[in-house]
Amino acid sequence: MPINWFPGHMATSRREIRKVLPKVDLVIEVLDARIPSSSENPLMAEIRDQKPSLLILNKGDLADPTTTAAWLDHFAAGPGVRALARHDQQPHFGRDLVAVARGLVDPSKLGRRAMVAMIVGIPNVGKSTILNALAGRAIAKTGNKPAVTRAQQRVRVGTELELLDTPGFLWPKLTPPARGYRLALTGAISDRAFDYQDLAYFAARFLLAHHPAALLATYGLEALPVGEEALLEAIGRRRGFLVRGGAVDPQRAAERLVHDLQGGTLGRISLETPPVDSPRGDLT
Ligand code: G4P
Repeated sequence: MPINWFPGHMATSRREIRKVLPKVDLVIEVLDARIPSSSENPLMAEIRDQKPSLLILNKGDLADPTTTAAWLDHFAAGPGVRALARHDQQPHFGRDLVAVARGLVDPSKLGRRAMVAMIVGIPNVGKSTILNALAGRAIAKTGNKPAVTRAQQRVRVGTELELLDTPGFLWPKLTPPARGYRLALTGAISDRAFDYQDLAYFAARFLLAHHPAALLATYGLEALPVGEEALLEAIGRRRGFLVRGGAVDPQRAAERLVHDLQGGTLGRISLETPPVDSPRGDLT
């Protein structure tokens, strides 16, 4: 599936990040808890050598909690890196964030000033939602379409931390292909850039291999269909997505499966497990 996703403003934000970096004490990267590896920007690896990093595994409510815990352990093993999971119903997240940030920044460099952090993340990962929650008011525009956040913003979190927002950006080439599929399955890529049926086949293979019980329960199936085509056919029939002559409408069945996975209807599902090159990571 060729996904080409590199709008002009994303190139601009890459330049902006390089410009802002010298002015900050740490970098906060928002990742999608379902795909912490695929939602990480490759540029961040370079940045991590220069600044301490705090990773927020957001949308934790949609990910498998055991897998998220394994990811937190995995990231905690890296020098100069701390990670913390987040979901929408966490009233004390700001306090936790400041505490973790404090552990990363050398206090002798700060004197009496607040820590300054740059916050980055790919589109639709929930960066604006986090900024609004931390600010206690709507300062950043949120939305379910990728790349809604544009202009740079500043948000104060209590007296100790100031956040510099940067527009979300992705990288020009989504390789390996599984990375592109996983990003699409979590809503990071606009549906104008992928083919639903292709994506649904990827999702179906993954779910048949790793989450058969969720498929049976969600779609009321008596037996697990053999193969992705049969699964989509079964979903289409169960949901009544039929065209003239009684055949299943493959587009509607594909959209249903993709949206159910994206929105959590199939349960809390992580699409990646650590380490990054785990068997699940190879699933294409
Ligand atoms: P961005 O700035 O990184 O581009 O993302 P933004 O905050 O706009 O969030 C994108 C979508 O992700 C929004 O959904 C938002 O509500 C949702 N979201 C953010 N944090 C979480 C979380 O912890 N859990 C879940 N489940 N969703 C989260 P949306 O479809 O626009 O819905 P809404 O605005 O109607 O809530």
